[in-house]
Amino acid sequence: MAYKMETKCICGDGKNDGGHPFGAIAAPIFQTATFSHPGIGKSTGYDYTRAGNPTRAELEQVVTSMEGALDTVACASGMAAVGLCLELFEPGSHFVCSEDLYGGSVRIFETVGKARGLTFSYVNTSREDLTEQAINERTKALYIETPSNPTMEVTDLAAMRRIADQHHLLLIVDNTFLSPYLQNPISFGADMVLHSGTKFLSGHNDTLAGFLSVAREEFVKPLRYLYKTVGSGLSPFDSYLVLRGIKTLAVRVERQQSNAGIIAGWLQKHRKIKQVYYVGLPEHPGYEVNQKQARGAGSMISFRTDTEETARTLLERVKLISFAESLGGVESLLTYPMLQTHGDVPVQIREKLGITADFLRMSVGIEHVDDLLADLEQALA
Ligand SMILES: Cc1ncc(COP(=O)(O)O)c(C=O)c1O
Repeated sequence: MAYKMETKCICGDGKNDGGHPFGAIAAPIFQTATFSHPGIGKSTGYDYTRAGNPTRAELEQVVTSMEGALDTVACASGMAAVGLCLELFEPGSHFVCSEDLYGGSVRIFETVGKARGLTFSYVNTSREDLTEQAINERTKALYIETPSNPTMEVTDLAAMRRIADQHHLLLIVDNTFLSPYLQNPISFGADMVLHSGTKFLSGHNDTLAGFLSVAREEFVKPLRYLYKTVGSGLSPFDSYLVLRGIKTLAVRVERQQSNAGIIAGWLQKHRKIKQVYYVGLPEHPGYEVNQKQARGAGSMISFRTDTEETARTLLERVKLISFAESLGGVESLLTYPMLQTHGDVPVQIREKLGITADFLRMSVGIEHVDDLLADLEQALA
């Protein structure tokens, strides 16, 4: 029987039911680098932690089940997962990407990726015509974030699959912003899904993690081979932390989302806020597409203040909310994309995207919404 998402958060597809030594309910942390062999040519199923570890395997099984994938590798960070994904492509491969990807993804594409002979075009993938126009004879994949980071553009995943089929491309989706609780790109035809597990999946701002899930059999073996070769695996202890975090993903995301809806509405009415970008607002241009492909709008809000000074003062005055990078955790964070997440994106590209000095991003946590509103109110006064 296929479990519902809330249950998958607890035990994936249930493969580990009753499987822990001594009946332990929580996953034991197998803090070991290596495993002894019962005999020559025999294995317990685990030989060396770089290649595989039981705590990590349980986590990978949970994420595989939540994303509806065939296999998932758990990596030391989201960027390690992005790097591993690039390693799967031959030099000369070209990618058509969402134009406002996470800045770290652009950085790895333009440095490590380029040095390996990969090339990248960045377009507004919420526009199918622009996406198609960017495809050339070397294009191998579409690389999408939806909603995008930080301007919340929504890309139609089913439309991307149609384009990918017409041009024999792979569809790769970074699903960090909504988490598998709210969106499953594989069910819309994605071939690979990435996560910064540092965000909603771990959920407590206490560890880095990343995931690369694949939905095609042909990638399972090459990915596992690369993973053990490159050595990008998540440690057993961090695997335990993320596994523990995922157990409450459903309840956290529900609370975060309900807080975010209230805060987005409040910000819209504030005299010092010029524009609010939240995919849960019916006037958001991507509202309908997001509703079609996701089970909610999530808890990421970007907004534009009336002046740069308001943005800076807000960042300095918040007390309960922290001025910090990252997102998806139980604590609410305010980020200055221009200086933080997108600081390495060339200024002319940033400005074209609207990532300017008056532009802020908020990751809404699970605090009481009245306290969050009171903090915003005093900081904007
Ligand atoms: C959408 C997205 N993808 C990937 C990453 C990279 O993840 P990590 O910071 O875990 O390396 C981030 C980090 O902010 C992100 O927001």
